[in-house]
Amino acid sequence: MNDIVVDLDLRSYKIVVKSGSIKLFPDYLKLHDNIKNFVLISHDSIMKHHGFNLKSNLESLSYEIVEIILPDGDDSKDLKVYNRIITKMIESNCDRTSVVIALGGGVVGDISGFVASSFMRGIKYYQVPTTLLSMVDSSIGGKTGLNFSRKKNIIGSIYQPVSVIVDPDLLDTLPFNEKVSGLGEIIKYAAINDRSFINKLHEWVKDIESFPYTEAIERCCRIKAEIVTKDEKEIDLRRVLNFGHTIGHALESYFGFRKLRHGEAVSFGMMCSAWISLKKGFIDTEEYNLLIEIINQLPLPKLSKVDPDKIMHYINFDKKNENGKLNFVLLDGLGKAKVSQDVSSLEILESLKVLSEC
Ligand SMILES: NC(=O)c1ccc[n+]([C@@H]2O[C@H](COP(=O)([O-])OP(=O)(O)OC[C@H]3O[C@@H](n4cnc5c(N)ncnc54)[C@H](O)[C@@H]3O)[C@@H](O)[C@H]2O)c1
Repeated sequence: MNDIVVDLDLRSYKIVVKSGSIKLFPDYLKLHDNIKNFVLISHDSIMKHHGFNLKSNLESLSYEIVEIILPDGDDSKDLKVYNRIITKMIESNCDRTSVVIALGGGVVGDISGFVASSFMRGIKYYQVPTTLLSMVDSSIGGKTGLNFSRKKNIIGSIYQPVSVIVDPDLLDTLPFNEKVSGLGEIIKYAAINDRSFINKLHEWVKDIESFPYTEAIERCCRIKAEIVTKDEKEIDLRRVLNFGHTIGHALESYFGFRKLRHGEAVSFGMMCSAWISLKKGFIDTEEYNLLIEIINQLPLPKLSKVDPDKIMHYINFDKKNENGKLNFVLLDGLGKAKVSQDVSSLEILESLKVLSEC
């Protein structure tokens, strides 16, 4: 496989997608001989399954490891947890040559990236994603974030890692519903960028047990790398990656982050956004039905009835963040997307009816 590169001049980096790559982690460090210590941030269960080998591998090369274990769940993306990590780093004499390793899903990746971007005005960090969602999405592109005052990712930065090391073997221990969440994001990439990928997914999702994860991960990483290379700061093009996210985020807030996983919420959001794209004549019925059929193959949780006004309340919060304009991502033919500021509240409300058919 050719390397996947996020090409950002001096901040360029490689995404390695390779079975067994976690065992080779020290090989990817060759350029960084002056390392004070590694700050390995993870969750307990991930450390047990995968982290101890990585840790002992580095220790056998005489590196000092500062291990920091976070509780599971989105609540860890919190200032108190941030405070605890920074305190431990200071107590462990970390300095500008310390290197953070984010070993986990999007939660670990987001807070670790923010720690790396802010500790002593920025230190190096590696993303070692362990969930499907983080392998295809959150570990790439440098978005870091914390939640504050019940607002998701309201504190954060765009700060690129030194490298992203993806080892698809780590998925062996990932719970099934976390895989389903990641599959939602995979479908997103195909819907916005790659019609031929849609046709493949149509086949692949029929038997999720034998889904070719490595091939799909590579494909998504390439798409994300290309988009981030063109628009790192999400001024225009990168926004298409938010397909399904406007309604998806509102559903996450409405149902609570414990009930609905990110990729599951995005899957429901994509159904509504596809419906609006159909009503506006941007996709035809055949394209709409194909996308809905693919999403419906995922064993998504059953949604109880939503209160449309409350969903609109959350969507309007997003709107306030965009200077009063909602940047809504629509399909422009299946396999292409565009950003529209011309989606009305009524269209959104009507699209929510799609959810009652799920
Ligand atoms: N930065 C970005 O660009 C971006 C993009 C999308 C989502 N996100 C963020 O990502 C977060 C969601 O991330 P997620 O879906 O990866 O969930 P997560 O990080 O909460 O992980 C889900 C669960 O899987 C467990 N787990 C992870 N890897 C495992 C493995 N290999 N084996 C066994 N268990 C494993 C974790 O312990 C956790 O309980 C949200 O906070 C969201 O806001 C960020």
